Amino acid sequence: MQMEKNNYILVTGGAGYIGSHTVVALIENGFTPVIVDDFRNAQRSVIQRLEELTETNLLVNDFSIHDKNQLIQLFNKYPFSGVIHFAADKAVGESVENPLKYFNNNLGGLISLLEVMIQFDNQKLVFSSSCTVYGTPDLVPVTEDTPTKMPESPYGFTKLMNEQMIHQVQTAHPELNVAVLRYFNPIGAHLSGWIGEEPQGTPNNLLPYITQTAVGKRDFLTVHGNDYNTPDGSCVRDYIHVVDVAEAHVAALNFLNKRKVGIETFNLGTGKGTSVLEMIRFFDEISGMNLPFKVGSRRSGDVPEIYANTDKANEVLGWTAKRTVKDAIRDAWNYEQQAKEIQ
Ligand code: UD1
Repeated sequence: MQMEKNNYILVTGGAGYIGSHTVVALIENGFTPVIVDDFRNAQRSVIQRLEELTETNLLVNDFSIHDKNQLIQLFNKYPFSGVIHFAADKAVGESVENPLKYFNNNLGGLISLLEVMIQFDNQKLVFSSSCTVYGTPDLVPVTEDTPTKMPESPYGFTKLMNEQMIHQVQTAHPELNVAVLRYFNPIGAHLSGWIGEEPQGTPNNLLPYITQTAVGKRDFLTVHGNDYNTPDGSCVRDYIHVVDVAEAHVAALNFLNKRKVGIETFNLGTGKGTSVLEMIRFFDEISGMNLPFKVGSRRSGDVPEIYANTDKANEVLGWTAKRTVKDAIRDAWNYEQQAKEIQ
């Protein structure tokens, strides 16, 4: 059946962790995602798994969004009713070692995309930002009005720059209608266990490190510091289920379809903080294991405590995180155990 023409949504980075879960949510809500991904950070097998999961033939385009000619051809082919921009590099440590890679990819990618969107008068953009733009906040929880600060890493800097670029471009092109989504800490996997987080090499992020330790790929987890001024001394984050994050993108698209806002920014979190030591305890509870861990020194650039005030997303987008941190740990653990079979 021919889908209605206004259902096509461009999803850059659609084979990635959050992108792939959003592709599922889009299909479940009647949209037709058109993926652009150069697979630099994603496995090609994600596409087959997504196709089986959604019983759909996906529209997949294997190129980098830096390639404006290919983007232009794609915009000529599909009358996109919206764009969701995920394609970016996100490894904080790598960005410290190779900042130019991050400037080139994360800043250059957005420039290329915005230029083509403007050329085609394509107005609706949902942009992946991060709570990293708050730096180390003076007060928690943070609202969207909490002042942004210079992030600790080049990765974080690119997210803050991206947001500022969008503001300045939108001022010059007021027809643009943008939802900026500041993710807190997305974790977990699809309930099916078919898609999830697939870090390349040694994971930087906490939960993939935990699950890889539990299956024996790593010897033990290092807790980066237990001497912070937090309830148990370890860092506190707002871990949010990736499927809730995905569903927020659908809510953001529906919101942009209904309202011409210019730019609206939303925190995507649960509103609750969980410490590293609590995460380990929850994992032990769920898996029935005793995760081996050691307490190490603080990791440079870590923020002691951050979690979201989510009132704005709740009230304006009508979206709220439905899944708990324990649901997310269970789903990530389920995915890690199945991962060997499906790759
Ligand atoms: C970081 C970025 C965030 C980015 C995300 C993507 C900052 C401040 N945050 O999140 O913007 O979107 O990465 O990758 O730049 N931990 C351990 N041991 C480990 C791994 C982590 O104790 O082996 C701790 C960390 O010290 C931290 C917590 O777990 O307290 C979460 O760490 P992580 O999953 O890496 O996420 P963030 O650093 O919060």
